[in-house]
Amino acid sequence: MSMFTEVIMDYYRNPRNRGQIADARISAEDTNPLCGDVIKITANADNGTISAIKFDGKGCAISQAAASMLTEHMQGRSVEHVKNINKEDMLKMLNIPISPVRLKCALLALKVLKMGAYAHLGGELSREEIETL
Ligand code: FES
Repeated sequence: MSMFTEVIMDYYRNPRNRGQIADARISAEDTNPLCGDVIKITANADNGTISAIKFDGKGCAISQAAASMLTEHMQGRSVEHVKNINKEDMLKMLNIPISPVRLKCALLALKVLKMGAYAHLGGELSREEIETL
């Protein structure tokens, strides 16, 4: 029996918003230190609202589904909204129990999104926030 839900496997096999936006104003990438898998997120904003957003990278079903779900969630929302999305929100989107070893898989895209959005907003992701993700 698969440990993943149909929904996660669907996002993994048919990822929404996969790719890269050329000349994106918002761009960030990071790796999961436990496996070396990478996620890159590129986006553009129009008057503070995300007008286009894509993710790229390689990794397990959880990391890829999470990135795809996050890009869908952010489409049409404000860049500032990224500040409100926390670990619990991301786990709620995935909607499966995540073991401690898979937590970095589940949260990699959120970390990358925050890095990109915060840089765009003129701040930086605080060390404290990186460590809590
Ligand atoms: Fe690498 Fe999940 S095993 S991101």
